[in-house]
Amino acid sequence: MSKGFVLSDQILKHDINHPAYKNKSTFKPSGSLNNLDLFTKGHPFKLYKELRDNSPVYFHNPMPTDPEPGYWVLTKYDDIKYVSMNPKIFSSQYATGTLLTLGTEENRHPRLFKSTIDHMLNLDGEMHLNLRKEHMSFFKPGYVDQLRKKVSCKVTELLDNIAPLGECNLVQNVSQQLPIFTLSEILGIPEEDRQKLVTWMEFLELAQYFTLEMIKEKNEGKTESTPDPAMMDMFNAMVDEMFDYGRFILNSKRENPSNDLLSAIANAEIEGEKLSQEFLDGSWLLIIFAGNDTTRNTLSGGIKLLHENQKQKELLLSDSSLLPNFLNETVRCISPVIHMRRTTLQETEINGQKIGKHEKVALWYGAANRDPDIFKNPDEFNILRENADKHLAFGIGRHTCIGKPVALMQLQEFYSQFLNRFKDFEMNGDWKVAPNNFVHAIQEMPIKFKPE
Ligand code: HEM
Repeated sequence: MSKGFVLSDQILKHDINHPAYKNKSTFKPSGSLNNLDLFTKGHPFKLYKELRDNSPVYFHNPMPTDPEPGYWVLTKYDDIKYVSMNPKIFSSQYATGTLLTLGTEENRHPRLFKSTIDHMLNLDGEMHLNLRKEHMSFFKPGYVDQLRKKVSCKVTELLDNIAPLGECNLVQNVSQQLPIFTLSEILGIPEEDRQKLVTWMEFLELAQYFTLEMIKEKNEGKTESTPDPAMMDMFNAMVDEMFDYGRFILNSKRENPSNDLLSAIANAEIEGEKLSQEFLDGSWLLIIFAGNDTTRNTLSGGIKLLHENQKQKELLLSDSSLLPNFLNETVRCISPVIHMRRTTLQETEINGQKIGKHEKVALWYGAANRDPDIFKNPDEFNILRENADKHLAFGIGRHTCIGKPVALMQLQEFYSQFLNRFKDFEMNGDWKVAPNNFVHAIQEMPIKFKPE
């Protein structure tokens, strides 16, 4: 039997080139987008603005320990849209549609690395379309509508649990729980296994930080930020458990398919063959990460926006018809996916900057969503904003988020019930955000409210 298609093996053979053309601008920004600490305060909007104003197509140097050349940083809305809409020039498949670097071989996580590559976000053309098609029936309006009823009941249950407390960490009590419930319903994960996903997600958000700290330790020895070895062991054990469970459930769905998304993935084909084990691992990682983390962080982030913008909160409380636009504006302001990435397949030009073949281009969605050429007073949270739905937080083009209707449905169910019951809510301390420049990962959101 053939082993099936393994994208990571091909990608590892591909070269990335150093820039063939000089950066038009000589601007030196005040910070580095590779600095994960910067992201623990939310998106670095000031740095995005500096780049957008002075060097909208900016060549970012690699990390000192990184053998690959650096990447072009795009911060203008129109440039990010243009690249996303032209997959024949800007490939997701040549060297991944996500990773800023493949790093050195010895620094790649034995189980996570290949799985961050072998999935549909990193495919181009027909192969991508065919695999995406297999997922589609679980994101169509009819399916999402029948899911809405279950989600609504789950929101009520989660809010009933926090109601007598008067205060809680919203992430732990609600934001983590709701997307896991919804995704598990779509995927066909039995109820008794669902809490495992919550723990895996917490560790996955820290994966980037652990990887960088391991590299730092090798080069500089232990520092103050070096994670405790017991923590690293726990992280590795969680990763193993997550993939072992994925293999177990996907194999059982391959043998006994039912009407759920995991059965569709387990029985999907690429070029006439069932997915390889590598592609099953990768598809498992993609769906549980993409389907959870993004909605979870938008749900928490909206609370902070309302807390800090009391007039907007009052407006929303006085008119529930503003809810859909409030959600668009929240997703715009939060932009839970920080960047995606493409590779040029030919010599090209973006916004007057010449770029050679096989160079990396990174799309910084949070920067596009604050571009003043598109959004007036972009840093203002304005639920009446007329073009709030033009944001690029879900991406655009062929890879545009397949889960958008499911994400918006969950956010709508949560906010309509939460605002109805806990009108007086306030933040009750500072938020905590993980050091991560791929997803805006809110780990704590303390709130207080009048107990019921
Ligand atoms: C607020 C919530 C969400 C945001 C902001 C978001 C954002 C994104 C972005 C930026 C992309 C990549 C677009 C590109 O490369 O052009 C993407 C792709 C994807 N998202 Fe989401 N997402 C969200 C929720 C979800 C949910 C709930 C699911 C599943 C239940 C999901 C599943 C996926 C999948 C499978 C892809 C890959 C699509 C492809 O390659 O064709 N996402 N998402």
